[in-house]
Amino acid sequence: MTTAVYPGSFDPITLGHLDVARRACGLFDEVILAVGANSSKSHLFDSRQRLDLARLALQEAGVGGLRAEPMDGLLVDFCAEHGAAAIVKGLRGGADFDVEQPMALMNRHLSGVETVFLLADPALAHVASSLVKDVARHAGRIDDLVPAHVAAALASRAAPASTPAPTKEI
Ligand code: PNS
Repeated sequence: MTTAVYPGSFDPITLGHLDVARRACGLFDEVILAVGANSSKSHLFDSRQRLDLARLALQEAGVGGLRAEPMDGLLVDFCAEHGAAAIVKGLRGGADFDVEQPMALMNRHLSGVETVFLLADPALAHVASSLVKDVARHAGRIDDLVPAHVAAALASRAAPASTPAPTKEI
């Protein structure tokens, strides 16, 4: 039984993430999405919401051997706890590689765990959580970038605060 961990902040999960996760399932018996926090980013959704959005997306994708778990602390410790043979990451281009290379080397330095990179589907290479959030913030169309429940969650975040009902002065 080979297990791989696909880590990320998944803020929120996109169709690009799902494509990488689905293809990783063709290489490993079990793939665990580790929903963590990126200390260099401020997240729109809290850790529970990111996990719930990811879990529903995986459930709807209906791919066997794929599940999401919360990750606190070091990724290499999460990998050891789950007996993972490898870390999986998606690469959309050179900029992703520049970010991922030092992390892959650090994780191998810390524990010996290898990182396997999967090239993003070119049709999804522009799909980044940060861009999706920006498009949603400006009421742009995101229904072909994220699962429907994620689009709904983003729309509810982007909705302007309701105007308080006028109060009657006495
Ligand atoms: O989707 P992201 O934001 O690129 O995910 C980054 C994440 C959460 C995978 C990364 O920050 C991480 O691995 N965090 C866990 C803490 C850790 O192990 N840090 C050392 C990384 S070399």
